[in-house]
Amino acid sequence: MHTFLTQHNNNMTVLLLGSGGREHAFAYKIVQSSLCHKLFVAPGNAGTNQIATNINVNPLDFQGVKEFVLANQITMVVVGPEDPLVHGIYDFFKNDAQLKDIPVIGPSKTGAQLEGSKEFAKQFLVKHNIPTAAYDSFTAETVEKGCAFLETLQPPYVLKADGLAAGKGVLIIHDLHEAQTELRNMLLHAKFGTASSKVVIEEFLAGIELSCFVLTDGKNYKMLPTAKDYKRIGEGDTGLNTGGMGAVSPVPFADVVLLEKIETRIVKPTVEGLQKDHIDYKGFIFIGLIIVKGEPMVIEYNVRMGDPETEVVLPRIQTDILQLFSAVASQELDQVSLQIDTRTAATIMVVSGGYPEDYSKGHAISGLENVTDSIVFHAGTKSDEGKVITNGGRVIAVTSFGDNYAEAIKKSYQNIAKLHFDKMYFRKDIGFDLT
Ligand code: AMP
Ligand code: GLY
Repeated sequence: MHTFLTQHNNNMTVLLLGSGGREHAFAYKIVQSSLCHKLFVAPGNAGTNQIATNINVNPLDFQGVKEFVLANQITMVVVGPEDPLVHGIYDFFKNDAQLKDIPVIGPSKTGAQLEGSKEFAKQFLVKHNIPTAAYDSFTAETVEKGCAFLETLQPPYVLKADGLAAGKGVLIIHDLHEAQTELRNMLLHAKFGTASSKVVIEEFLAGIELSCFVLTDGKNYKMLPTAKDYKRIGEGDTGLNTGGMGAVSPVPFADVVLLEKIETRIVKPTVEGLQKDHIDYKGFIFIGLIIVKGEPMVIEYNVRMGDPETEVVLPRIQTDILQLFSAVASQELDQVSLQIDTRTAATIMVVSGGYPEDYSKGHAISGLENVTDSIVFHAGTKSDEGKVITNGGRVIAVTSFGDNYAEAIKKSYQNIAKLHFDKMYFRKDIGFDLT
């Protein structure tokens, strides 16, 4: 097994793409790796700049990425967000004579369709017999059929824009006429732009949600720790949906029996399905599940890690992350064992007042140096003349470990009390539903 490590570069220069809390958590693990020589982050944030080197390159500017990679002898590219993947950064590297031997951690453009197109994902699920909600899909030409299909379903109605809609493309509506109106808005009036030129209508699944994270090399896979995020802005899970206001790992109800079902019915057939369909996939799969009467069903695939779930999942992974990524690149993931910290991790997201609607930026953040016994992951921050200022809606995630939820969550709140910026807001009830 140790032939594996010796074959790999232990002097790696890594380029990480992205700028959120997820990427700061990746950077935190990458710089701890014994294989890491140097880490660049494009474009990064004030947190990544403290532990790595930020560069002013847009992850969607593939030509700019190429120039930087060649000029700086980058030996691996790690992709945080879905956008560059859906736009085909993996294929761009693979098809370029100068870049083709530099591994990209993230799926091919076709693989990224699991997130980039809800219809593609549904077809994949059905084809490979993976449990999911019944569905049909419609376009402007078939809008009336879509309205008729809604009449055959029980409320609530689930409408999903086919394409990427920044997490906003899913509508759950109780009233039939309102659902029909929204379907027309999506298909005929581009409610979500081109993302809603096709709409998937899905059976509503009632149950508890759980996120499962998988790292695959396309042949082998590792199931990473489970996590649960808190999506709503308001306490008691009320108000608008956000990117996520906090997360915990592991998820208490994800017991051995449930995890076994998830692995055999969902994870295995997903990885086997990718192989059968000849889809190049070397990266993360984030599987959104609803547990209906003890049975896991897939509601979505994402082709990246979740944010803020990464801020609790990665700190619990004790295996060297670049060793894992190197094994992904060489399709030898079966040669590496995954060590997980058994403690609980919790993260609380601190946001700018007004988020997820309008909010202001540029507020100085104070108290960061007083945080003890928690990890501060920057999300929307940037450095400004030696100060750290807010630069996004979700600003900072404070992650803590504990022997149980209550302990981990309490530590994060104690440290958040030391932080301040104008219009700072956070949910005070993360973990309220856990026993
Ligand atoms: P998605 O963007 O696909 O994760 O959907 C956003 C949210 O909508 C999910 O986190 C679920 O809470 C909910 N959702 C999506 N699909 C369904 C479904 N078929 N039944 C019930 N809730 C759903
Ligand atoms: N926290 C949910 C997501 O990253 O999509």
